[in-house]
Amino acid sequence: MKPSNTTMDKASKQIHLKDADLIGEGRDRLCFQHPSDPSLCIKVAKKKEKQTAREIRYLNYLHKKQRDLTYISDYHHSVKTNYGKGHVFDLITDQNGSVAPSLYQLLSANQLTPEQLNEALSTLSEYLSRENLCVFDLSPRNLAAKQNQQGQYRLYMIDGIGLASPDPFTFRMPLLTKRLMGKRWRRLIKKITVTVSHSSTDLSVRSDVKDF
Ligand SMILES: Nc1ncnc2c1ncn2[C@@H]1O[C@H](COP(=O)(O)OP(=O)(O)O)[C@@H](O)[C@H]1O
Ligand SMILES: [Mg+2]
Repeated sequence: MKPSNTTMDKASKQIHLKDADLIGEGRDRLCFQHPSDPSLCIKVAKKKEKQTAREIRYLNYLHKKQRDLTYISDYHHSVKTNYGKGHVFDLITDQNGSVAPSLYQLLSANQLTPEQLNEALSTLSEYLSRENLCVFDLSPRNLAAKQNQQGQYRLYMIDGIGLASPDPFTFRMPLLTKRLMGKRWRRLIKKITVTVSHSSTDLSVRSDVKDF
């Protein structure tokens, strides 16, 4: 999608997204740092997609149920941008304000110790299981890894929350969610193992990391 020009932006009060603000690009969306609030990001669709609407619907449901959203990049509102409609989410940043890397980036660059990886995965799986959350695309590229003051990493879901099909039962029925998340979790562990095998390290996921 081609962005519109700056003059138009002023006239229609659009937010002007610049190349320099681009943080990342997935298959479906571009993600920019919000030009006037560095703690937020704006996602715009590269082509017609249903994913953002699906995420927003599920996040609204979680808000209504007052669920703990600690490890989720939460949704704020929609905005007009020079790339068309944009959606504002929390940006996951490090202590110093720079954008947190994805788990994929850290694994590929061999920047995690086995303890850091396993501790981060344990915390995430305990959280997902406790809150009984549905995530349809749990993958190393969709997890932002933020380091805390103790040097530990915490994994935040920045994409893929909710369900691929708008099945009203799965996220209301704990047993169905658990079964689905077991499959999703094992797929994540497989993807981590493949990523690690390309980075020639001896990182491995411990068997005591909680499954579903
Ligand atoms: N909330 C966020 N915090 C930090 N980085 C993000 C955030 N959302 C997206 N990103 C970065 O932008 C990339 C693309 O965004 P994503 O939402 O995953 O797009 P897609 O839906 O097309 O996969 C991510 O892989 C990540 O590097
Ligand atoms: Mg993604």
